[in-house]
Amino acid sequence: MSDQIMIFDTTLRDGEQAPGCQLNTVEKIEIARQLEILGVDVIEAGFPISSPGDFQSVVEVSKAVSVPVICALTRAVPGDIDAAVEALKFAKRKRIHTGIGASDIHIQHKFNSTREDVLARGVAAVKYARKFVEEVEFYAEDAGRADNAYLAQMIEAVIAAGASYVNIPDTTGYCTPDEFGAKIRYLKEHVNNIDQAIISVHCHNDLGMATANTIAAIQNGARQVQVTINGIGERAGNTSLEEIAMILKTRQDLAAHTNLDTTKIYPTSRLVSRLMRMPVQANKAIVGRNAFAHSSGIHQNGLLKNRLTYEIMQPSDIGIKDNSLDLSARSGRSALKHHLDRLGYSPEPTELDAVYQEFLVLADRKKQIADDDLRQLMGDHAAAGGIEIVAVDVHSGTSIAPKATVKLAVGGTEHQATAAGNGPVDAAFRAVNEIIKQPVVLEEYLVQAITHGTDDTGKVHVQLAHNGHLYYGFGADTDIIVASVKAYIDALSKLT
Ligand code: KIV
Ligand code: ZN
Repeated sequence: MSDQIMIFDTTLRDGEQAPGCQLNTVEKIEIARQLEILGVDVIEAGFPISSPGDFQSVVEVSKAVSVPVICALTRAVPGDIDAAVEALKFAKRKRIHTGIGASDIHIQHKFNSTREDVLARGVAAVKYARKFVEEVEFYAEDAGRADNAYLAQMIEAVIAAGASYVNIPDTTGYCTPDEFGAKIRYLKEHVNNIDQAIISVHCHNDLGMATANTIAAIQNGARQVQVTINGIGERAGNTSLEEIAMILKTRQDLAAHTNLDTTKIYPTSRLVSRLMRMPVQANKAIVGRNAFAHSSGIHQNGLLKNRLTYEIMQPSDIGIKDNSLDLSARSGRSALKHHLDRLGYSPEPTELDAVYQEFLVLADRKKQIADDDLRQLMGDHAAAGGIEIVAVDVHSGTSIAPKATVKLAVGGTEHQATAAGNGPVDAAFRAVNEIIKQPVVLEEYLVQAITHGTDDTGKVHVQLAHNGHLYYGFGADTDIIVASVKAYIDALSKLT
């Protein structure tokens, strides 16, 4: 028997607290609609008392979404609860998430109060919220560092006051998985009315243990998890939705499942990353761009024989259409043959041997080998139509409008275009677009310094969307604009 784990998504509340990730109301609605398609059970849409913008977002998300429960956060304060009630008035299904600190550190230093007083304030908040809504969830802030006996007393009192969900946050990401699992077990065993409520957990990732702690909690009786897309959130973030979803799907022996449509994970991750302007780290579990990129020859060879050798889940499970066997200097003949077959060439073994030697020479020079490179290796120069940068000139600064002139050789013929933009990179990309004329959307743009210093080489990664597929490009140069154009062209040259 497998138990259902409810997914409480807090991307729009805790996630949005991450520095630089603020969203406007229109963007929040877009994400909320996508979360509904993904199949989350609850959307925490904001903290209405905190700002007029947050209040309005809860109102608009409530109107835009019908299946998931819409939840609003409050402190254990009547004014916060009044604002939440008002903001939730259009929600078809609603919940108030109220609470107060439960650790002695919070009780003494944040509230300058006593355990008894704080417990009474929590109970009063739940009773007050219950006057307006059926579903009240209580959070015991910093439960991770709270004394278990006091926590149990508090949880029992708020359930008696009408809370049907009790949320146990590891607010500071302090607990270890054993400890957090034992805390949930302790509550199951010591809170007399625990069967009248669902235990929820909310873990932070300060020590990199948010996902492990959430799984430990599930194994000990939690039946709702608070998570965010891409693990975005306050400081080091929250438990990431995609990790929990795929752990439960991949490890069916845990006997727990979610109602998510996991094939919507990747598009949701991309949307959140784009709207929050927060790139996903390349090696991020599940949704990082390397998460399914098998690079070493031995792995690629095994994978082509049987995917189970190196793949515990399929890229298609999370909505990635095609897993890329990256072609690099470490790739073997089998990976090269796989790609040549895909492009319609079926080289005989001797021809493959010869092409493989040329491929290795090229791969030593080029970090990633694109389809056009393979076509060229197969002698198909006409089809390849390679793009080369001839010149890039930009004008920008505080007193002139950014403008770029780019000259490219496409399939051996030179073309030049000049464009204006809101910055030099934008102008340069627009100039490239005028020459290449492919309908692409820039999904991600990431600049990194390779080492240190102002004379350093800059590395640029871009991700372009074209006809439902994503194409990655990389460029490096001491001039960051040139590196950007190189990366853009690299991605464009992969369009098939
Ligand atoms: O981290 C935390 O404790 C929170 C609560 C408001 C649930 O975000
Ligand atoms: Zn939090």
